[in-house]
Amino acid sequence: MVEKYVFGSPFETEAVTEQIMAKTDVTTIVCGEIVVEDGFYYQYHMEETDVIYGLGEANRGINKRGYQYVSRCTDDPNHTEDKTSLYGAHNFIVLSGKQHVGLFFDYPSTICFDIGYTRQDLLTVRCDHADLYLYVITGESVYDVVKQFRKIIGTSYIAPKYAFGFGQSRWGYKTAEDIETVVQKYRENQIPIDMVYLDIDYMQDYKDFTVNAERFPAFGQFVQKMKGEQIHLIPIIDAGVKIEKGYDIYEEGVEKGYFCKREDGSEFVASVWPGWTHFPDVLNPEARAWFGGKYEILTNLGIDGFWNDMNEPAIFYSEEGIRALNQAISEHVKTFGVDKMIDNPDAIPFDARGILEQIQNNPEDYKRFYHNVNGKMVRHDLVHNLFGFNMTRAAGEALKKIAPDKKMLLFSRSSYIGMHRYGGIWTGDNQSWWSHILLNLKMMPSLNMCGFLYTGADLGGFGSNTTRDLLLRWLALGVFTPLMRNHTALGTREQECYQFEQIADFRHVIGVRYRLIPYLYSTYIKAANQNDMYFRPLGFDFPEDRRAIETEDQLLLGDEAMIAPVYTQNVSGRTVYLPEEMQFVKFMPDGTIYKETLPSGTHYVEIALNEVPLFIRKGKCIPVVDVAQSVDAIDMSTIKYLGYDNATYTIVE
Ligand code: NOJ
Repeated sequence: MVEKYVFGSPFETEAVTEQIMAKTDVTTIVCGEIVVEDGFYYQYHMEETDVIYGLGEANRGINKRGYQYVSRCTDDPNHTEDKTSLYGAHNFIVLSGKQHVGLFFDYPSTICFDIGYTRQDLLTVRCDHADLYLYVITGESVYDVVKQFRKIIGTSYIAPKYAFGFGQSRWGYKTAEDIETVVQKYRENQIPIDMVYLDIDYMQDYKDFTVNAERFPAFGQFVQKMKGEQIHLIPIIDAGVKIEKGYDIYEEGVEKGYFCKREDGSEFVASVWPGWTHFPDVLNPEARAWFGGKYEILTNLGIDGFWNDMNEPAIFYSEEGIRALNQAISEHVKTFGVDKMIDNPDAIPFDARGILEQIQNNPEDYKRFYHNVNGKMVRHDLVHNLFGFNMTRAAGEALKKIAPDKKMLLFSRSSYIGMHRYGGIWTGDNQSWWSHILLNLKMMPSLNMCGFLYTGADLGGFGSNTTRDLLLRWLALGVFTPLMRNHTALGTREQECYQFEQIADFRHVIGVRYRLIPYLYSTYIKAANQNDMYFRPLGFDFPEDRRAIETEDQLLLGDEAMIAPVYTQNVSGRTVYLPEEMQFVKFMPDGTIYKETLPSGTHYVEIALNEVPLFIRKGKCIPVVDVAQSVDAIDMSTIKYLGYDNATYTIVE
């Protein structure tokens, strides 16, 4: 059952698509109490065995207990364990214990979830303004609650089939030749691939919807040439529009009043990659349609996929920020003296040292601009978490009009629940750390709970230098995530699969992905169409099994499989917990498939760097095909079945 409660005058986020009558003046709900006084406050005393699921793209575990999380879409590339905010704001949690209750706090500004951080048994949710909708969902299990929630937020976006192929990306590819080299190397090494991503350097001076004609001459022809090699080029689109006289998008946006404005009516100015930019006011339906329409400039050149970036929106600094910083630095220098700052910096108090850091993504800047929502000016910080959602919605709505019968690839960095109807997400700037393989795994089911099915992380890690073994292990997880993309930052070690020794291992691991695409893509489509999850924590299917509930390094995939990747260095295998008998299979580098039926319980399984492990659930089987070099080249006539034999299928030998 879903109940909707209204507090104050909420902003209509459009996260929920189903019409539900709202109740007012509520202080107690099925579990927990609400206090409306000086903001909104919810609290619930957790029983020792309660598990708190949810929060989509968030740090830490699948069970969110024991820490605090702040929904405030943030461009922070350093996802250490102490971070409380990432790029998305997904305010849905499920309290799962004696009862199973889902809570969706539909509130587009900063909201804090203290899940046993201040007091170990206390869950509190608070925000500054008591203007929100609260959806309370009760059900017979956590899984049931999630399905009901998914139903009210509308069907998830479906990516094209090619987007289940492998993609290579790097911030630093500058020319058409750079791209051709990547394609050539993948093709000549017979490592399957379907996409190469274009990061900001394809643009002319980082101007959205432009292409640098010197570095990418005859771009349209280039796109077609790549298509001829079964490669889709996926350009990045940034949130900030460069301020430059003569740049049509900038001039049009100013003329039509489609950029975010300051209180005095002037356009807000922020520095991002192109230098000074304006932000398109994607919360204004007209401006949204206008900005979305610009994607056609690239679809006309044959582009059929995009990734939207920097849409928290990220701000390096604003004009006001620079002035404030100048003032602060002057005062700082006056207070401490230049000599002391140079000769004796450790004598300066800690809280005064990081003065320069305060300028980036400064909360004060988010109070300096406004959106025009149906004629009403709404201050950005009050709706901050909706920017990435609506930028991607701009693209999604426009692409539907541009090519109604075609599926386009679209995913975003920042998001809010509701955006899942328009595109997927990637989990932003992770690092080449072993712990981030596990973080990648843990985020996946939480994202699915919030409707985000087409998701994945930068495989190999974005920041820091990767290593061969890290990349191979991470790819063996990426084999199963809908978005399978190797991406890394400017200045890091080259991390394309052909940069390492024994390329055959990479060929094999990525090849396994292609063998599984018929299964994975259909599992994904089914999950989208049935408001279901592609990945689930083990506890969803084995709610009576405490050990399964506490297992956070394995996931169920569809109804037939379980994954348990290796995420530690210098090991030859790992321990797995099987809540029921399963068939352990390993895709071996020689193309064969190792099979062993294991009883329920704990097992140590050996998994070499060049093997891909998978578990088939009792009585189930999944289709596998032969390896192909691209999604289009998959030969469905090679289909065989892997798993438990039910006599009507051919079982792979
Ligand atoms: C930040 C994004 O998260 C990253 O993936 C991208 O490479 C850089 N921006 C440069 O565009």
